[in-house]
Parts: sequence; structure tokens; C-alpha cells
Amino acid sequence: MMQDAYQPGRVYQFNFPTVIRFGSGVWREIAPHLKQEKVQRPLLVTDATVAGLEFFHKIHEHLLENGLSPTVFCNISKNPIKSDVLKGRMAYHEAGCDAVLGVGGGAALDVARAVALAVHHTRDLFDYDDLTGGDVYVTEPIPPFYTVPTTAGTGSEVGRSAIISEDDTHRKRILFSPRLMARRVFADPTLTYALPPGPTAATGMDALTHNMEAFLARNFHPICDGVALEGMALIAGNIEKAVHEPQNETARALMLLGSIMGAIAFQKGLGVVHSMSHPLSTLVDMHHGLANAINLPYGMAFNLKYCPEKFQRMAQRLGLSSGRDIPDFLLQLNERLNLPTTLRAAGVKEEHLEPLTELAVQDFAHPNNPVPVSRADFAQLYRQAFGAC
Ligand SMILES: [Fe+2]
Repeated sequence: MMQDAYQPGRVYQFNFPTVIRFGSGVWREIAPHLKQEKVQRPLLVTDATVAGLEFFHKIHEHLLENGLSPTVFCNISKNPIKSDVLKGRMAYHEAGCDAVLGVGGGAALDVARAVALAVHHTRDLFDYDDLTGGDVYVTEPIPPFYTVPTTAGTGSEVGRSAIISEDDTHRKRILFSPRLMARRVFADPTLTYALPPGPTAATGMDALTHNMEAFLARNFHPICDGVALEGMALIAGNIEKAVHEPQNETARALMLLGSIMGAIAFQKGLGVVHSMSHPLSTLVDMHHGLANAINLPYGMAFNLKYCPEKFQRMAQRLGLSSGRDIPDFLLQLNERLNLPTTLRAAGVKEEHLEPLTELAVQDFAHPNNPVPVSRADFAQLYRQAFGAC
């Protein structure tokens, strides 16, 4: 029996509880809502770029005008590390904060979520690593936690986990608990207008990857499958408009929704593409979305022969006549988005391929790929993505 078929007698759990306020101008609801929740001193966790943008100043001003006393913490890395979280916790305690408001892309929201965890959980941060059973230690209170996405990519705003790397090795660790979900998401497409074309394309391709990998992932989850199919259609239909017309509200809104849907869907699992991409962040500090954009056509070509029926269903939602067209469609989409189509073009060197392969084999995402991925498969996939064959 297929792993994603219903298994009689088995009990399943599906999780969709987050309140999402979605639409232009919902950032104005943040201050009234925090006041209603008796929050007085929120810690605003963001990155240094977002902290300098006009909309961030507006949100900050709006909180002040409503009588709140926010503290801004923006001292975080592109790929977040443990010391970012510990500094954020220190900022929280020093300012006497009573809530955490994450504003930004995946990195800022992951740090915000990890700070919310660390405020009252004082063991070593990586004792809470889900892959070593650390969620059992998540027993203390979590301060009120809210998210405000400013990219359409990771969907971290609706997630329950934070990916934080070790400072020295850059090995990725996953902090996870259902209690780390945001109490409320304020998803305002106008906050994504300031994202330049390159990051809009790369983060959008991350969202497309989430929807496609979640749809293909093993496990029985028709709810996520439906969300993922619609999510990939929204991304594929709007990513070029969002890149080329940055203030197109409809395109930005549907991209933001597609990225949220991708993150909702990937509670089902991810696959080979993310396992190829995580090591590129670890080893050469490549942007996560860019890594997924480059790897996606090769990873999909790898999976195509094992689940042609699912590729046919994806092709319908992507406006293609055959599932076999998907890898080429993705390559051409990258070209139209002015993204590199090989790892070589993105600065990866041939000597990186061997250590990348080692890390990919150990990665947590590929066990959910629809077919097993061997070490030899990863080596071959990296060579293809590198542009060597
Ligand atoms: Fe991702």
C-alpha cells in the first residue's frame, strides 16, 4: 500500500488552529490587539534591514501612539544562530518585556519564536531540539507571541518550529513545540512591497518548493494535499507579477497566501530538495530560497519517475499539459525570474560537492521524500544542479 493512502484502523492528527488576520492594512490591528491582550512591553524581533524600512517605523510609531512601550531587537544573522537567540532573551529581560512580536522573514520569525521559548526555558537552547526529543522539556510558560511576515516565502509565521544553527559548526537544529505557534498572525501584503525583485523571486521559489514537496511527501494527509495544490497554483500564477510589479497588491497578496499555505502544508513533510538546500546554507551561507530555487527542477526530475500520477495532478494546477513538463517549467521560471539555474552560477565550487553530499544524507527532510534518496543519489543530484552533467 502507498504510504500516503488511508490505512484502516490508524488514528491521525491534523493541526490548523492559527488565527490569521489577512489583508492590506492589518498591521494597524497590532497595537489595539496587543492592548486588548494586556500586553504593555512587546519585544519587536526583526532583522537590521527591516528595522530600517518605513513600514517598520510606522508599526513602531503606532505602538508608541497607542501607549505601548516596545523594545526593538534586530541583532540577528542571515541564517540565525544560537547566540542571536540568547542576545534576544537578554534584551527581553533587560527591558522587562511581556510579549514577543516577530516582524520579518523566516530568519527574524525563527529567532522571535526561539526567544519566546527561551524566555522561561533555561536549559541549554539545544536541549529543546526536537530531533533529540527536546519537545518534552517545553513545559514552562511561553510569553504571548505574534508574527508579522514581510516576505512571501518561509511561511514561518504559521509554523511551530524555529530552525537555529550552532554558532561554530552552523549545524541546523530544530526547536519545536505546538505551543510555539503564534497566537495571531498579522499578514499584510503591503508589508512585502519593499522586498526587492531578487529576494521576492528567491523567497517565492521557497514557497513553491514547500507546496510541491509537501504534496509529494509520504504520509496520508489529503487536507495538506489540497492546500498544497492550491498554494502552488497561487505561487506559479503570481510570482512573476510580484517580481516585476512590486506594488501589485493582488499579486503580493496571493503570494503571501501561497506561502502561508505552503507552510501549513509542510506539516506533512518536505523532501529531497530541502535536504539538498539546507547544506548550502550551512556550508556556503547560501540564501535558503535561492538554494531551493536552483535545486527544485533537479529534485523534481528525480521524483518524477516514481510518482507520475501526482506529477500529473501538479501539472494541472501549474497550467501544464503533462507532469513530465514540470522540471523544464521550473528551470525556465528561474530564468524568467533572473535567478541562477546552476549551483556553479551561484558561486558553489566543485570541491564543495562532496561535503554537501555528506550533510544532505544526514538532513532531516528527505525521509519524507516519496522515494528514498541514497548517498549516490545526492551526489548525482548535486552534480546535476552544479551544472556538471
Ligand atoms: Fe524552505
